[in-house]
Amino acid sequence: MTDFSGFQSAIVQDRTEWNDRVFSLRVTGAQLNFKAGQFTKLALPDSDGKLVARAYSLVNAPLTTSDVLEFLIITDPDGQLSPQLHQLQKGDSLYVAQSAHGDLVFDTIPKHTKTLWLLSTGTGIGPFLSLLDDISFRPACEKVVLVHGVRKETDLVYRYLINQLVDQYQGRLVYQPIVSRENVSGALNGRVTDLIEQQHLMQHCRADFAPDDSFVMMCGNPQMIKDTTKILLGLGLTKHRSAEPGNIVFERYW
Ligand SMILES: Cc1cc2nc3c(=O)[nH]c(=O)nc-3n(C[C@H](O)[C@H](O)[C@H](O)COP(=O)(O)OP(=O)(O)OC[C@H]3O[C@@H](n4cnc5c(N)ncnc54)[C@H](O)[C@@H]3O)c2cc1C
Ligand SMILES: NC(=O)c1ccc[n+]([C@@H]2O[C@H](COP(=O)([O-])OP(=O)(O)OC[C@H]3O[C@@H](n4cnc5c(N)ncnc54)[C@H](OP(=O)(O)O)[C@@H]3O)[C@@H](O)[C@H]2O)c1
Repeated sequence: MTDFSGFQSAIVQDRTEWNDRVFSLRVTGAQLNFKAGQFTKLALPDSDGKLVARAYSLVNAPLTTSDVLEFLIITDPDGQLSPQLHQLQKGDSLYVAQSAHGDLVFDTIPKHTKTLWLLSTGTGIGPFLSLLDDISFRPACEKVVLVHGVRKETDLVYRYLINQLVDQYQGRLVYQPIVSRENVSGALNGRVTDLIEQQHLMQHCRADFAPDDSFVMMCGNPQMIKDTTKILLGLGLTKHRSAEPGNIVFERYW
């Protein structure tokens, strides 16, 4: 492959099809220094040989023993890069950026946090799986609530990993799937925003959004983040900035 500055070549080691649009790529051969919860860029050359790059979150935690990087991706048939990534098979080449970024990391969580809410929609669950899976930096909060809002049951990805994490956290981790367009046993029905406004989410998960000791990380659909932030501000929570600590941080996917 041609050499593109800021990027390194890598190989698809494995892929998982969750449904006809959502898939995971496991990639090897790139050296990436990252913190659990961060994102990097994946890239492929277009027909003119120009690199098309987009941001993707790591799903796995950093491993000292291997260079495996895992990504959870939804393909947008009209998009430039995601349909090309969807075509990649085992052994195919792609490019990975040389750096990782993002604030959905352990260091961002205030030490006094009692309840950590991880609110995600769609592929936005990825960074939270990475964060929870990092055995070196496990959030020490009394309770961690992982919320995954999706359209359909088949969008509820990584159930085996989530079950393992729930076991490992020994009662401190609650996983709450929310499915908006189907009724699914064990999942709440609707949108995270409505379920917070109606108090259902808090009652169901036995957890509060408390300005004193709750911390909320959000990732995924930008409108969900905007609408949820508005509701949380109404509950007395504030946006978190390094110069001005608060309760809410987020990463918008588009
Ligand atoms: C910090 C960051 C991290 C990201 N991490 C991921 C990730 O882990 N997995 C992932 O699938 N995407 C992720 N994205 C989105 C990703 O970077 C691309 O925008 C997406 O794959 C579409 O690229 P494209 O070239 O195919 O389409 P484009 O032509 O660039 O975009 C087409 C449209 O697709 C929609 N879209 C983009 N991303 C998503 C998404 N994730 N879910 C639903 N609709 C979307 C938007 O409406 C967008 O306008 C992330 C984005 C950012 C900013
Ligand atoms: N997943 C699929 O099967 C599918 C199929 C066709 C096209 N797509 C395209 O793929 C892209 C991503 O789809 P996606 O399903 O991963 O993500 P998505 O459209 O962001 O939906 C994920 C979840 O977020 C909810 N949501 C959306 N806006 C919200 C808001 N403002 N507040 C609270 N919750 C909100 C959705 O509820 P609602 O269901 O109520 O919107 C759904 O439960 C979209 O651009 C879509 O056009 C996806």
